[in-house]
Amino acid sequence: MTPLASVPAPPATPAPSLGSGIRVRVARVHRTFPGGVEALDGVELDITPGSFVALVGPSGCGKSTLLRIIAGLDEATSGGVELVPAVGQAEAWRAPIAYVFQDAHLLPWRSVLDNAALPLELSGVSRSEREAAARQVLAQVGLGDFTARYPAELSGGMRMRVSLARALVTRPRLLLMDEPFAAVDELTRGRLDDQLRALWHELGMTVLFVTHSLSEAAWLAERVVVFSRRPARVVRDRALELPRERTAALRLEPAFAREVQVLSEVLERGGG
Ligand SMILES: Nc1ncnc2c1ncn2[C@@H]1O[C@H](COP(=O)(O)OP(=O)(O)OP(=O)(O)O)[C@@H](O)[C@H]1O
Ligand SMILES: [Mg+2]
Repeated sequence: MTPLASVPAPPATPAPSLGSGIRVRVARVHRTFPGGVEALDGVELDITPGSFVALVGPSGCGKSTLLRIIAGLDEATSGGVELVPAVGQAEAWRAPIAYVFQDAHLLPWRSVLDNAALPLELSGVSRSEREAAARQVLAQVGLGDFTARYPAELSGGMRMRVSLARALVTRPRLLLMDEPFAAVDELTRGRLDDQLRALWHELGMTVLFVTHSLSEAAWLAERVVVFSRRPARVVRDRALELPRERTAALRLEPAFAREVQVLSEVLERGGG
């Protein structure tokens, strides 16, 4: 498992980073917690480097447990996870993994800029370098004018964008997101989804995205994995038959509605 703790310093001029996501191989992963709760039952996944994959399943089925195991924050009872860097990756300074939780988890006494720069500060990057990197990523998530603000002065959607910026500042090869936009309103969520897709295109990272919203999963991801009720098993794992370009108009198209309907039926059957 690749360690989470150390984040190498970015170079003064970041290299173009397209196509350098991590491949994630999850092999027969079981997880039973002390006390006997079985959360994962032989989960198998092979995630293509640089792909955007949504994970959906009934509440409490084991999705967060799986994400935590992939991140190295928890261990499988049996089976394992392998993180495979793409061949020819030369950007040793990029962080392997970043994790975005449902709650923004910002430090209230630090400005937006200092929150976004935190991972680089913890790994010893100089003030000028980390602030430049944080400013760049805050501009990318649309917060370029809010760097001096404090979390209490921001809306929920803005706080999530700071949280996303803090994850992206390390230029991760694998971004794990656990219901990151669940607590914001529908319109804000749509905008955040939009920005996330654009950043994914730009940064060339692998994204694993847990959500309860099937339309969010279908709009964001290239592939959706559906889990059963606990203990989680994969009941469907398929690429979506939708255009690569995701526009607002796509949400209104019959092909999109069909994909969401199929996911809903699979979830109902597989989760029941
Ligand atoms: N540390 C733990 N110790 C014991 N049981 C746990 C622990 N963490 C999770 N569980 C249990 O494992 C099961 C799966 O939990 P998990 O949080 O992975 O589900 P989830 O699919 O993310 O749910 P939700 O959609 O509600 O976020 C649940 O029954 C939960 O109570
Ligand atoms: Mg969860």
